[in-house]
Amino acid sequence: MSDAGPAAVDQKTLWNGAAGEAWVRGQDVLDAMLRPFEAMLAEAAARCRGRVLDVGCGTGATTLAVAEAAPEAECAGVDISEPMIAAAVAKAKAAGSSAQFFCADAQDHGFADASIEMIVSRFGVMFFRDPVAAFANLRRAAMAGGRLHVIAWRSADENPFMTTAERAAVKLIPDFPVRKAEGPGQFAFADATHVRGILEAAGWRDVSLMPVDVACEMPEPALRNYLMQMGPLGVVLNRADAETRDRLSTAVRAAFNRYVDGDTVRFDAACWTITARA
Ligand SMILES: C[S@@+](CC[C@H](N)C(=O)[O-])C[C@H]1O[C@@H](n2cnc3c(N)ncnc32)[C@H](O)[C@@H]1O
Repeated sequence: MSDAGPAAVDQKTLWNGAAGEAWVRGQDVLDAMLRPFEAMLAEAAARCRGRVLDVGCGTGATTLAVAEAAPEAECAGVDISEPMIAAAVAKAKAAGSSAQFFCADAQDHGFADASIEMIVSRFGVMFFRDPVAAFANLRRAAMAGGRLHVIAWRSADENPFMTTAERAAVKLIPDFPVRKAEGPGQFAFADATHVRGILEAAGWRDVSLMPVDVACEMPEPALRNYLMQMGPLGVVLNRADAETRDRLSTAVRAAFNRYVDGDTVRFDAACWTITARA
């Protein structure tokens, strides 16, 4: 997944550059791989009749699924990445969906106060510079009693598939940028106590984190492209010459053999379902 990079990296630059472009190129494979989470969030929002906001909506699949599951709701997706929002708009148009999309930083965007019935997110809330400020901003946007229902990754140790490429690459590239545990990034919400502290400091109540382990898969022919484009390795290979890309991708692909079952790649995603009320 392209949820990566050292803590110092500017998230806006990352998601408007290599990471966002990789997600746009890989959206069909990623959406199929992450569909179980889309279904979970659509089910959670199905009874909404007011405004539903998908935070860090990316290329929009979850927003569209929520809009379909809750036809009376007004669904919108917000993302900091212009290329991803452009892809979401195109996807909505192709699907004839009423979902709306806009490009903004959810941390400090001026949402209308107390206007949102439910905030959802599939892996889009771990990248804020100041997570307490971001979740306080989202809490102000939620109606009294409004619900937060988001999915985030548990730890890197519990998600070895997600770090297979960089663990293989680090042996081959001497100055490979090692992912930092702290700071914004894919695993920033791994620690339940930390997340609870963020949400409570931001004014959310009834905070709950439930572990959920979800079987995910992708077609084997998509694997090489996936590992070359996503995550910290994707960012490095984006700048590499063709010979280096070829050599590294062959070596790194071998590290994924344990996940390949015939023509399908299978892994378990270790995540949190995080819920709270405004
Ligand atoms: C791992 S991707 C998930 C995308 C989408 N939710 C999905 O599951 O396909 C994380 C998303 O969060 C977005 N993001 C990161 N920081 C953000 C911010 N401050 N405000 C809004 N979106 C942000 C990124 O641009 C990216 O689209």
